[in-house]
Order: sequence, then C-alpha cells, then structure tokens
Amino acid sequence: MGNIYLIGFMGVGKSTIAYHLERMLHRECAEMDRLIVEKQGMPISEIFEKYGEEAFRDIETQLVQELGRKDGLIVSCGGGAVLRDENTKDMKAHGVIVLLTATPETIYERVKKSKDRPILNGNMNVQYIRELMEKRRTRYEEVADFVIQTDGKNVTDICREIIAALQPIHKSSH
Ligand code: S3P
Repeated sequence: MGNIYLIGFMGVGKSTIAYHLERMLHRECAEMDRLIVEKQGMPISEIFEKYGEEAFRDIETQLVQELGRKDGLIVSCGGGAVLRDENTKDMKAHGVIVLLTATPETIYERVKKSKDRPILNGNMNVQYIRELMEKRRTRYEEVADFVIQTDGKNVTDICREIIAALQPIHKSSH
C-alpha cells in the first residue's frame, strides 16, 4: 500500500489535511512535529534553542526512517523534512509524496500567532515567508509526485482532490 507523505511549507495545512484523510481513508496518521515533541519531551522551539537546527534535522531524519518501516500511514511532514536527500529517498522508497501549496499571504494568516515555529522567529511577515518559500520551491516541486494548490478550497475538497490523484498511482502498483 505504501505511505502518503504530505509535504509543503509551514502553515500550508498538512496536519489538518492528514487528520481528515485519516478519517476518510481509515488509515493511521503520523504527525512528525507532534511525534518529535512527544519523544523529546519539549516543544520544537526548545529543541532548536537547546540543541540547534542540525540536531533537530537529525531527529527528523531518524523519524523519517522509523516511519518508512511502517506501511499505510498518512505522514504529515515538518516543512523542512524534505530538505535532506536521505529523507526524500526514504519517502520515495516507501510511498507517494503530495505537495500542498498556498500563497505567502494565506500562510502568514495561518502562522502569524504561532510561537513554535523557530524558523520564522523574528521574521513573522509576508515578505520573509515569500522569500523562504521561493528558496524552497524548486526542492518541494522536484520531490513531489503531485501538487495540490489549497488556496480558497475547503478541507474536504482538498482531501477529495488528493484521493482522486492517488487513485491511478494505487491502481498501477497492484
Ligand atoms: C520547519 C517546519 C515546522 C517544524 C520546524 C521546522 C521548517 O513544521 O518542523 O519548525 O523548516 O519548515 P510545520 O511545517 O509543521 O510547521
């Protein structure tokens, strides 16, 4: 069956969509950030503060590998989880990668009150989000099996679109 990996920028709605897909597809959802917080016993911002971004990325890589050993999961990936080749290789080997996108303005509205996104600390504005998104765009696009644009759509419609896009992939793998 394989896993479904939801990737994309912070605040694009990966977790919300993953929880809905969990109910629609009767498959288990794994939220990477939440699993990391549970395992480390501290918020993401504290992991960054105490140990630095590289250590966080190492924990993330370890989790990608763990999740790759399971099957049928809907994985809501941290926004930076696809930045390392070893992570995307693992994801490709164990499932389908779905990129969710939204405009910087939409993202800003969703993340502006967040205190637990260290990457945006001190840079919580549309301009910064646009620049970082632009820097990551090629990476997101090149690793994705398909792309779902989310602006102006409701959660159910987005999930239906994902399920429809997954259909031919599942059929061809049988
Ligand atoms: C990050 C995204 C965050 C979290 C961490 C780093 C990133 O996840 O993993 O703060 O580098 O884009 P969300 O995309 O779930 O916010």
